[in-house]
Amino acid sequence: MRDLNGQTLVVASHNSGKLREFADLLAPFGIETKSAKEFGLPEPEETGTTFEQNAYIKAFAAAQATGLPAMSDDSGLVVDALDGQPGVYTANWAEKPDGTRDFMMAMEKTEKLLQEKGATEPGQRAGRFVAVICLAWPDGEAEYFRGAAEGHLVWPPRGEKGFGYDPVFLPLGHVRTFGEMSAEEKHGWKPGQAEALSHRARAFQKLARARLGSA
Ligand code: IMP
Repeated sequence: MRDLNGQTLVVASHNSGKLREFADLLAPFGIETKSAKEFGLPEPEETGTTFEQNAYIKAFAAAQATGLPAMSDDSGLVVDALDGQPGVYTANWAEKPDGTRDFMMAMEKTEKLLQEKGATEPGQRAGRFVAVICLAWPDGEAEYFRGAAEGHLVWPPRGEKGFGYDPVFLPLGHVRTFGEMSAEEKHGWKPGQAEALSHRARAFQKLARARLGSA
């Protein structure tokens, strides 16, 4: 796998929540980054059935279009009582007929399904956020880094910070939902520190250790 240092890295996402988090995570490394949005790239259709496949579709499309290495993230919420749903369809559950996204609607749908299963106790509402980061090069070479954050779903939603399903996710061993945490607390990691908290920061930590010379 080639070295990223000295390269411009394309962050292949149009999701402002993810872009903000990657900007934070990449900041200490002094790598020049540009988003797929800044290049005016279209969002490719996510036709895969795994996080890895969708992450590759996004990263490779951006690498091919720009001639630069590109990094993408495919992520989602995996709820045990719902047989792993919404999983790779986490963003789709928020889609409205007019094409816009409504995450309150998506969180309500998840809660309704949990209620139908009689899942009222924390132990019955366990799940995890999963993130797979794909680092792809214009010739198709790719590498994957997976991170997960264990926890359970709470209701009603709590907190205005973060994005997506953050307000209903309480990470294991914590009293604040991701929606109530500052970005720094949600990532839970800086280079040189032990263990990240969020799924995205955990996946990024693996990438940083493998490709950015981080401790
Ligand atoms: P995709 O990776 O573009 O398919 O979208 C993943 C979806 O999962 C996002 O639109 C969010 O709704 C949700 N998601 C992923 N990571 C997070 C997170 O850190 N907090 C809250 N929601 C997330």
